[in-house]
Amino acid sequence: MPEGSAVRTMFSGIASRYDLANRVLSLGLCIGWRNRLVAAVKAARPASVADLATGSGDVAFALRAELPGGAEVVGYDFCEPMLELGRRRATAEGVRVEFRTGDCMRLPIGDAACDAVTVAYGVRNFEDRPRGLRELRRITRPGGSVFILEFSQPDLWFAPFHFLHVRCVLPVAAALLTGDLGAYRYLGTSIAGFPDADGLTAELKDVGFREVACEKMLFGTVALHQASV
Ligand SMILES: C[S@@+](CC[C@H](N)C(=O)[O-])C[C@H]1O[C@@H](n2cnc3c(N)ncnc32)[C@H](O)[C@@H]1O
Repeated sequence: MPEGSAVRTMFSGIASRYDLANRVLSLGLCIGWRNRLVAAVKAARPASVADLATGSGDVAFALRAELPGGAEVVGYDFCEPMLELGRRRATAEGVRVEFRTGDCMRLPIGDAACDAVTVAYGVRNFEDRPRGLRELRRITRPGGSVFILEFSQPDLWFAPFHFLHVRCVLPVAAALLTGDLGAYRYLGTSIAGFPDADGLTAELKDVGFREVACEKMLFGTVALHQASV
């Protein structure tokens, strides 16, 4: 698993180009995956949501737009340049989303404080995944849920195309867009090393989540896990 400080430095370097690169490199598909996540959270009718590894806040803003005005949405990240983008957008759009500094290895959030916790493309970057998953569980109230949107392992027949894409096409296209080949080589390596949907389900149960449901998307390359406390 990657070192936290290296991950923070990497995202600081690409912060200003991250959102554009995301949309272009996923051919816009990331918007539909995010909408699936937001719909699942909305169905749970939470009064308080912590969006962890929020980056520039794409998920947090989408939640704000879909949840009732009374619901609290707070984004946490350990990379200040990413958080700053979120804060500027909240001010520019006059939207009530708060952004706070927080490391998922030791979150500045009390036990059982959140109705729902979301993490989009963050868990793969955790320095110590079991520790991070335990933190997610700790801050979620009994009856609440954690929603994890993350790359996953493709169905067997699609695997050769997928790995050609993440190992070769993605780093080059990303380097052209962001000027940082290393960051996107890391993306390919981290995707390849991440557990499949069953593996992540097992890890979530190991740290004490009661029930775990999973929805696979795009031939298994992306998965949305909902884990209940
Ligand atoms: C790939 S970006 C995802 C951003 C956003 N969730 C999205 O959907 O676009 C990963 C983010 O996770 C953050 N991150 C990684 N490890 C973290 C940790 N231990 N604590 C807090 N943030 C973390 C990075 O700083 C980065 O902003």
